Amino acid sequence: MGKQYLVTGAAGFIGAAVAQKLLEFGNKVITIDNLFTGKLERVPENVELIEGSVFDKQVIDKLNGRCFDAIIHIAGQSSGEVSFENPVYDLQTNCQSTLLLLDYAQKTGCKKFLYASTMSVYGDHTPPECSESTELLPKSFYAVGKLASEHYMRIYSQQFDMACTALRLFNTYGVGQNMSNLKQGMASIYLAMAINRHIITVKGSKDRFRDFVYIDDVVDAFLKALARERGYDSFNICTGRAITVEQVIKTITSRLPGPINVTYTDGTPGDQFGIYGNNSKAKDSIDWEPHWMFEDGMDKMIKWAVISAQPGSSEKELG
Ligand SMILES: NC(=O)c1ccc[n+]([C@@H]2O[C@H](COP(=O)([O-])OP(=O)(O)OC[C@H]3O[C@@H](n4cnc5c(N)ncnc54)[C@H](O)[C@@H]3O)[C@@H](O)[C@H]2O)c1
Repeated sequence: MGKQYLVTGAAGFIGAAVAQKLLEFGNKVITIDNLFTGKLERVPENVELIEGSVFDKQVIDKLNGRCFDAIIHIAGQSSGEVSFENPVYDLQTNCQSTLLLLDYAQKTGCKKFLYASTMSVYGDHTPPECSESTELLPKSFYAVGKLASEHYMRIYSQQFDMACTALRLFNTYGVGQNMSNLKQGMASIYLAMAINRHIITVKGSKDRFRDFVYIDDVVDAFLKALARERGYDSFNICTGRAITVEQVIKTITSRLPGPINVTYTDGTPGDQFGIYGNNSKAKDSIDWEPHWMFEDGMDKMIKWAVISAQPGSSEKELG
């Protein structure tokens, strides 16, 4: 028989994809989303939507004490840049929300809690490969809030015998990504600029690099992590491969009709120069590994984005 899950943020890129997959396996999914960066039309059909902010206790109360097989907390503001523009909002959205949902889980007897954490908790390192035991040196308010959420989960897990799992997502990209948010998502930002304006404006150095992980692999990581039965743990969800800004831009411009001009401006506060992840722990502990190569994922994403940008196309059908 299907299970019942709360997946926050199901009007957004990652939350919608996770919710969709859970539905395909015959489960029931409820979401809370304030449509801040998400879109109503992206919420998968048959997902029950509670529209409102996940850091508002009155909104969480609308769950009416329902007990979930797991709470998968994905809603969040995901831009380091925005966290400097509005640190209090960032803290409320990414951390206060976690605390309220953990409290709800504990009071309703929910024993599994999954969280969309981030590679940003590491900051910058030399050498740049980070495993889960690498020192955590957050450089942005965004990363501080995410890391605080991890600690709340760790303590809840110890105090209340809940299985809490933080997935430290590296740069997630792919079909369904928000192409109108130009403050989050390196691949989606450059791609949207290239398609819509034929100009890519890069904030920071072309030598910066990221570890890009395709959305289908990220969804798979959430499903695999659901099997954890007890304790707190965190996992890098990454490929272990560094891709520079310059490589991202070449991948995009070589697949689109030109010319596309590329200009460089100053970087944004708290931006990491570059790290990539070691994913051995996820392989060993939750049997997860990535399957998508960056070039293949970008091929698929670019084709989708080009069709989506055409007048009259339905992003939902394409996504
Ligand atoms: N995309 C990435 O590369 C990446 C990497 C690491 C971590 N993450 C984390 O994954 C999560 C999802 O990211 P995404 O790329 O899908 O972003 P997204 O913007 O597409 O989705 C976020 C969703 O959360 C909703 N939301 C935002 N604030 C909310 C609030 N206060 N209450 C209720 N809903 C709210 C938005 O409306 C949106 O639907 C975020 O928490 C982000 O920090 C993303």
